[in-house]
Amino acid sequence: MTASIEVHLTPDYLSESLRRDVKEGLTSTPKSLPPKWFYDADGSVLFERITTLPEYYPFRAEREILAARSAEIAATTKAHTLIELGSGSSEKTRLLLDALRDAGTLHDLVPLDVSETALREAADTLAADYPALRVHGVVADFTAHMDQIEGEAPRLVAFLGGTIGNLLPDERARFLSEVGAVLGEGEWLLLGADLVKSPDVLLRAYDDAAGVTAEFNRNVLRVLNRELGADFLVSEFEHVAVWDPEREWIEMRLRAREQMSVTVPALGLDVRFDKGEEMRTEISAKFRREVIERELTAAGFEQTSRWTDAEGRFSLVLARAE
Ligand code: SAH
Ligand code: AVI
Repeated sequence: MTASIEVHLTPDYLSESLRRDVKEGLTSTPKSLPPKWFYDADGSVLFERITTLPEYYPFRAEREILAARSAEIAATTKAHTLIELGSGSSEKTRLLLDALRDAGTLHDLVPLDVSETALREAADTLAADYPALRVHGVVADFTAHMDQIEGEAPRLVAFLGGTIGNLLPDERARFLSEVGAVLGEGEWLLLGADLVKSPDVLLRAYDDAAGVTAEFNRNVLRVLNRELGADFLVSEFEHVAVWDPEREWIEMRLRAREQMSVTVPALGLDVRFDKGEEMRTEISAKFRREVIERELTAAGFEQTSRWTDAEGRFSLVLARAE
């Protein structure tokens, strides 16, 4: 069966929300941009390269947990529909799909992502590799379109990779409550979250020796140049990764090497950057077990299982909507 695709992010919606985010972010002090704009076709490819880097442990750690626990997750949830938020390539999801197929319960797979290219490619490949499944891809924003996650119950919503950590605390609380509100009692959330650990390990993961994360970070400027006609000199911005020990998150920033002025014609904006000025482009929050459990409870979930990889770097939590 071929995949069907539903596009909620129309060109008008995308351009309006990009303009709003960029106007707000570039006129704030300090300047910031939301991380969802990294993921055009090039950004999605760069993220895939990050997952293969020796320093970037989260992908491998979560895959290790899924390899060990997918059969248990399938047996517990008996999911008929698997909805994956921020699905990207859905590479690790195959471990879950194999287990759910072996358990014989799954009929529908709904990958959802803001990146249309990544979504289409993943949905087509999955439909070819899992011919017994109905694959319905959704191009949407999980911070705005949670009402789109339909499907036959019991549903299992998978939010993998630690992407939950890319939401600011208030966005995270809202997001979890929305997932909790959409799911009926007895449906499931599978949440991957990276854990607090040595700042050295974290900083290496977000500032790799090959410079792939730096290119991923700078890619957001290329998106703004292309979509808004901006004239960022991309190479004039240096990639910076900082560990914030109070908020327990990594912050990725872009630092202006020189003083410069950037024009964003689509917004009628001229933006000045001082030499050394830093603009935040992403947070990647790291969690403690009690924080995850507390936030899930607040959003209407009961945490039923929690696993980590053998080195205790990353956690996967299965939670039941109440
Ligand atoms: N789940 C995959 C990919 C993680 S990368 C993994 O674990 O490897 C984060 C993914 O989330 C990207 O594919 C990106 O396009 C998507 N994404 C980021 N912000 C999003 C948003 N607001 N709505 C929907 N998808 C989003
Ligand atoms: C998608 N997300 C979980 C990644 C992370 O680790 O926060 C994005 C990323 N940023 C830099 N490297 C990877």
